[in-house]
Amino acid sequence: MSAVVEPYLRIAGHRRLTGEIRVNGAKNAALPCLAAALLSDEPSRITRVPDIEDVHRLIEIVKTLGVEAEFQENEVAVRPLGVCGGSPPDDLAASLRASFLVMGPMLARTGEASCGAPGGDVIGARPLDVHLAGFRAFGAQVDSVGGRTIAHAPEGLRGATIVLDYPSVLGTENLLLAAVLANGRTRIVNAAMEPEIGCLADMLNAMGARISGAGHHTITVDGVERLSGVVHELIPDRIETGTLMIAAAATRGDVRLTGVSPSHLEALLSKFAEIGVEVRRGDDELELTVNAGATLTATNVQALPYPGFATDLQAPITALLTGAAGTSMVHERVFENRMQHLNELRKLGANIVAGGSVSAINGPAALSGAVVRGTDIRATAALIVAAFAAEGESRVYGMRHLARGYADLPAQLAALGADIERV
Ligand code: UD1
Repeated sequence: MSAVVEPYLRIAGHRRLTGEIRVNGAKNAALPCLAAALLSDEPSRITRVPDIEDVHRLIEIVKTLGVEAEFQENEVAVRPLGVCGGSPPDDLAASLRASFLVMGPMLARTGEASCGAPGGDVIGARPLDVHLAGFRAFGAQVDSVGGRTIAHAPEGLRGATIVLDYPSVLGTENLLLAAVLANGRTRIVNAAMEPEIGCLADMLNAMGARISGAGHHTITVDGVERLSGVVHELIPDRIETGTLMIAAAATRGDVRLTGVSPSHLEALLSKFAEIGVEVRRGDDELELTVNAGATLTATNVQALPYPGFATDLQAPITALLTGAAGTSMVHERVFENRMQHLNELRKLGANIVAGGSVSAINGPAALSGAVVRGTDIRATAALIVAAFAAEGESRVYGMRHLARGYADLPAQLAALGADIERV
């Protein structure tokens, strides 16, 4: 009997990345927009959809709820089949966090919704209280039974003022998805301001919803009776963009990224200026050049809700800062357990002292190749960055995490000249 062999990336370090890449559409916009298509009984098409596992899983989920959905060449076509209803299979719900986004649309359309415990990266407790309190404010009865959430609103949802305890991204999206068909006006106060919420609101407004203030702290929604189908293009993936920029900087590269939204990356761009990476920005492109052998300067980073520094780039920038001169302090303030990459970075030779959600990175450290394992999507990306900065060969495990969130990161990096191979 042969054992199952786990795939890994073989990476030879110290290759300078050069060239041009067009980034994919945003993972974190694809998922709520796919859920939004459940709100209409007309077909919708979403374009620039990244070919990632989480998208395919959510497609499987919406297909169990009364729609046909098909992914083809970075587009997802959603065709309602009549009455929608039901609950996602528990194993699918448990395979990603965004499975819970079907709750808002199903509750708004049918007056009932249920979903097993959602899964996703294990980076903290990740409660659902923001979502549930919001559904209750709309007048729904919500019960949690053995990890499963069951919500009923036989009289329909009524608009409400909902003050979020925390500006949760998926929480804001779920409530927006419910509010568009609720009776009357909803105000979501202390809403998350991530650009992906703007992308979702744009799609919903094109379907006939009446949302204003998306991207600000307070979002106002006037409920409508029905929504039509739409063709909607996703925004560029700012996390993929940031990961490629960080990888390029780690190799002292010269890389141009096209089809991006520089304004979504202000926090990263400001850190790049501090560490000494020159970035030229156009309307929809970013070009960064670092001279071979250049020394980067240490800086401090706090991962926060948008427009603060993205928590999804906290692990990758930590990997970059291992090579910067001086001590960098990195404070993760969104998730309480998102420092699991530190031990792996140490195996590559990083000098990091950490406690709780704060790390002190002493650099520049001379990294050398090692066998390391990513335990979530962005931690795996961070280890790829570190392997580029390391002398010699590394093996990076964690491919199944990477595939959930990056469409083709190893291929993109190979196109830029990296010596990277899936084994
Ligand atoms: C989304 C993103 C993820 C990103 C994160 C923060 C998607 C599919 N995923 O995840 O890539 O890292 O935003 O930018 O868009 N919280 C509560 N109560 C809740 C919900 C969340 O206390 O009901 C807390 C969480 O425990 C966490 C913080 O809020 O500490 C942020 O979580 P949240 O904004 O909900 O992240 P997600 O939407 O799950």
